[in-house]
Amino acid sequence: MFLFSTLFSILLILVKKLAHRITYKSYCYEGSESYTVGQKIKKNCNTCECRKTAPKKFEFVCENKPCLIQPKLNDVINRGNYGWRAANYSFFWGRTLEYGIRYRLGTFKPYRETMHMNEIRTVDRRPLPESFDSRRRWPRMIQEIRDQGECGSSWAFSSSALASDRRAIQSRGRERITLSPQHLISCNTRGQQGCEGGHIDRAWWFLRNQGLTSDQCYPYTSGHSGHKGHCRIPRGRHKRFRCPSGIQDEQYRSTPPYRVGPSEEDIMHEIYNNGPVQATFRVMQDFFSYSSGIYRKLPVTNTNPTNQGWHSVRIIGWGVEKSGGRQKKYWVCANSWGTGWGEDGYFRINRGQNECDIETFIVGVWAKRNHLRRTRRRF
Ligand SMILES: *[C@@H]1O[C@H](CO)[C@@H](O)[C@H](O)[C@H]1NC(C)=O
Repeated sequence: MFLFSTLFSILLILVKKLAHRITYKSYCYEGSESYTVGQKIKKNCNTCECRKTAPKKFEFVCENKPCLIQPKLNDVINRGNYGWRAANYSFFWGRTLEYGIRYRLGTFKPYRETMHMNEIRTVDRRPLPESFDSRRRWPRMIQEIRDQGECGSSWAFSSSALASDRRAIQSRGRERITLSPQHLISCNTRGQQGCEGGHIDRAWWFLRNQGLTSDQCYPYTSGHSGHKGHCRIPRGRHKRFRCPSGIQDEQYRSTPPYRVGPSEEDIMHEIYNNGPVQATFRVMQDFFSYSSGIYRKLPVTNTNPTNQGWHSVRIIGWGVEKSGGRQKKYWVCANSWGTGWGEDGYFRINRGQNECDIETFIVGVWAKRNHLRRTRRRF
C-alpha cells in the first residue's frame, strides 16, 4: 500500500512536470504572445530567435546592432534639459544606425581640395538683425523641404536647392526653377557615389560646367529605388532637349561657388546679403531623433567615428531664443528628410560654437560683388 502510494506520487510529479514543460516552459514570451523554439521576431532593428539557452530555459536571443532610434536615448533627451526634444519616427523605427548613416546622409567629409575653393571674407560690417529668415526676406524664392528618401544624396539635394535659391534671389524672382537633384545623382558620376554619397566640390564643378535641368524635366526617383540610375540627359551643353518626363527643357549653369570664411559673423553677412548657404556637418546618432528645439549633440552620444556620418543642408537664417534670462543663439537649417521630420522639415542648431563642425564648410554661390572681397586662392 505504502509502495503503491509512493509510486503514484512520483508518477504524479512526473506528469505534472511534463505538463508544465509542454504548456509553459518550452515557449518564449513577448508581450502576450508565445513563440516556439526557432521562431523569430524583430525587436526594433534586431532579429531575435526563440532558443533553448539552458535546460528548461527558453528565451529570445537577439542580434546586437545599434538601432537608429533608441528609446532609452530618447528618454534621456526628453527627461534632460538639453534644449531640444526627441521623437520616435516611424520611418526610422526598426532601422539600424548603419542604415541611417548610409542611406539618409550622403555627403563625403570635405577634403582639403574643397577647402581650397575661393574663400570669401565679408568686408561688410554693418550691424545685423537679431534674427533673420530667408523665407521672409525673399518670399517664394526659397526652395521648400524635400525628402531624399532611402538614398544617401544630401550632397545633390543641398547643392541643387542652393543653386535654385541663389538663382531666384539674383534674378529678383524672375528665374524660379527647382533644379533637379536626380540630374546630379545620375549624371555627375565621376568620383561620385550616387546614393552612397558625393563630394560637394565635384557637384559644384558639374553645376558650373554642365548645369542642371529642372526637377520637372528630370523628377526624383532614387529615393525609392536607392540606386542612382542611368543618366538620361544628353552630354554637353545642348540648348533644348527632350526630358525624361517628356517636356522640353535646357540646362541651367551656375556661377562659381566659394567658401565663406568660417566665422559666425561672415556666415550671417553672407546669408543676409546673398541668401542661404550650404553647410556640411557631422551627424551623430541623437540627431536622427531630433523633433524640436535647438540641437546640440548630447554629452552622452557615442562619438566613435563609425557611429557618425557627414551630411549637407542649407542654412537659411538665424535667431535667438530667450528663456529664463538666458539667450540661446541658433541657425535655422533646411534638411532633406521630408516635412514629417523636425520642425516641419527644418531644424535649429546651436550657433557660434561650431556645433558638429556646421560653421566650418560653408559654401555660397552667385555673389553680389560689392560687399565681398576675394582672397587669392584658386578653385
Ligand atoms: C516607435 O514607433 C514604432 C512604429 O511607429 C512602434 O512600433 C514602436 O513601438 C515605438 N517605440 C516606442 C518605444 O515608443
